[in-house]
Amino acid sequence: MIFKYIVCVALVASVSSSAEPVKAKPTYQRRDAITGQMVTCEKCPPGTFAEKHCTSSHPTICGPCPDLHYTQYWNYLQKCRYCNVFCVEHQYEKQQCNSTHNRVCECKAGYYLEFEFCLKHTECPAGAGVIKAGTLCFLGTAFQDTSCAPCSAGFFSPTSSSSEHCIAHTNCSVDGLVVNVPGNRYHNTLCTPCKKYIGTSVSKPVCDDALIQFVAHQKIPAKKLTKFLNLLSIQNARRIRKHILTENKNVMHATLYPLLVKWKETVKEENVSEIIVSILEKAKMRNVLQNVQDRFW
Ligand SMILES: *[C@@H]1O[C@H](CO)[C@@H](O)[C@H](O)[C@H]1NC(C)=O
Ligand SMILES: *[C@@H]1O[C@H](CO)[C@@H](O)[C@H](O)[C@H]1NC(C)=O
Repeated sequence: MIFKYIVCVALVASVSSSAEPVKAKPTYQRRDAITGQMVTCEKCPPGTFAEKHCTSSHPTICGPCPDLHYTQYWNYLQKCRYCNVFCVEHQYEKQQCNSTHNRVCECKAGYYLEFEFCLKHTECPAGAGVIKAGTLCFLGTAFQDTSCAPCSAGFFSPTSSSSEHCIAHTNCSVDGLVVNVPGNRYHNTLCTPCKKYIGTSVSKPVCDDALIQFVAHQKIPAKKLTKFLNLLSIQNARRIRKHILTENKNVMHATLYPLLVKWKETVKEENVSEIIVSILEKAKMRNVLQNVQDRFW
């Protein structure tokens, strides 16, 4: 309860207190122990406390708060308050304890406060973006979890996140490039200078890079995946296959692309396209092979 109160209320309080006009020193009344008369004492400013109350012959003596203690307001407390807020899991110290303020903790980005605990905001999955970020505090109706929406045409979101919006696809033609892989909800449009292998003005290695990228972004049926990985001499093929199949199929390229880039470094440069084509044939990945031929030859 205390964290919720402090974090949520402190934010509101700090806004309203800044405009207060400067007033005369506030005072308090007390009975002088010796004379028995009522005296008017000045209060002590924030950051100090009333070390000695005033008497009819001397003013209030204020002393500074010791370390880890504070007074936030004009006061006649005989001790400063202890900084008794401690940051817990998933919180960070937004304001350190000093002589005028208690420590203020706040949930880390992506978390919200409920019953003293910072809970994770719902993440929008890959392919969807945040349309409204969740609020920081759980205060009845004021609290809102993340609102997500699938990315609309022309936009993508590559990862699960509670803060990222969908991003617009790159327009290849603006940079004088062609589309290698069209963008979708999960990944950006990928551009290359390589139009086709034959009659291209760019070098073969540039087209090889485009080919590798293109293949990595194809939908590869689960049945063909092991054979494909084995033919590429990729180690731990079974583990990688399992990983790919338990992940979102739409982000298969995130695993395949780095593997294919690494594989490319192991084969002779002049043979990359021939070897890829023969591997696709051997793995009986007919659709992928057809797509590759349509795209590059
Ligand atoms: C203590 O911290 C608060 C909030 O960060 C700040 O406004 C205030 O000036 C600080 N007081 C002192 C005495 O440093
Ligand atoms: C890309 O940019 C070109 C030239 O600026 C424009 O004609 C074309 O409509 C744009 N394509 C998309 C998909 O925005």
